[in-house]
Amino acid sequence: MSPRTPFAIRPARAEDAPAITEIAIEVLSWSRIYDLGPSFANILHRHIAASEHGLLSVGVRDEEVMGFLIGAFDAKLLFRQFLLRHGLRAGLALAPQLLSPRRAATVFRGLTYFPEAPADDPGAEILSFAIRPEAQRSGLGTALFRDLVDRYAERGTNRLKVGTIDVENEASNRFFAGLGATILRSETLYSGKLVNVYQCDIPTMREVLEARVATRRSGELGAAVS
Ligand SMILES: CC(C)(COP(=O)(O)OP(=O)(O)OC[C@H]1O[C@@H](n2cnc3c(N)ncnc32)[C@H](O)[C@@H]1OP(=O)(O)O)[C@@H](O)C(=O)NCCC(=O)NCCS
Repeated sequence: MSPRTPFAIRPARAEDAPAITEIAIEVLSWSRIYDLGPSFANILHRHIAASEHGLLSVGVRDEEVMGFLIGAFDAKLLFRQFLLRHGLRAGLALAPQLLSPRRAATVFRGLTYFPEAPADDPGAEILSFAIRPEAQRSGLGTALFRDLVDRYAERGTNRLKVGTIDVENEASNRFFAGLGATILRSETLYSGKLVNVYQCDIPTMREVLEARVATRRSGELGAAVS
């Protein structure tokens, strides 16, 4: 069997929005945001890709988007700018959804989240992260994270929050714990769902990721000389 093409990591472009939305809806099946439908998600993804307050990277193989990572340098500013720039279009995309009490509750929570969040929470945040099922556990999530950590460091960000990870989501909890993230608190989100909110120290995470690359390189060297 021929070896697979490696993943390339790059900033997302506007035309990647539908592929990102497709992955999110498939992989993040529990997400209340993605439950609001593809039209709203596409507007949001295009905004984040274009905003100086946001960060949206994709992992691509053979020109196909295989995974994505969404972050914010300042989540409050990112969403305020979204409302100002796209509020009307997003409102029209959401209008039919508001007939459902569950979806109306999601929109209400989205609009009231920031005043509720503790004031000393980091402003920088990971908002969404997903890899196509066939590419999971092959290092793409880690590669997207290395790129993200470098981009935060370039902007002088030292601390970030990882919004909400279901306490039972073993893959994600292990992923973040393995990178040295610590649990800031567990809180209830929507009808009794308990989630972990993580805090990441960027310099520590960079060290962990660099050590992993060094271990892999020395393993490859060992294999080559033996
Ligand atoms: C969580 C997720 C983004 C990780 O991406 P990934 O590309 O699969 O992760 P990697 O291959 O880089 O794995 C890095 C480490 O994470 C942990 N991990 C990843 N998947 C795991 C799984 N299914 N079970 C246990 N640990 C897992 C392991 O510690 C792994 O290191 P190892 O393979 O050396 O043991 C991916 O599994 C995913 O899309 N999950 C569904 C969506 C989701 O939960 N998103 C996060 C919440 S928004």
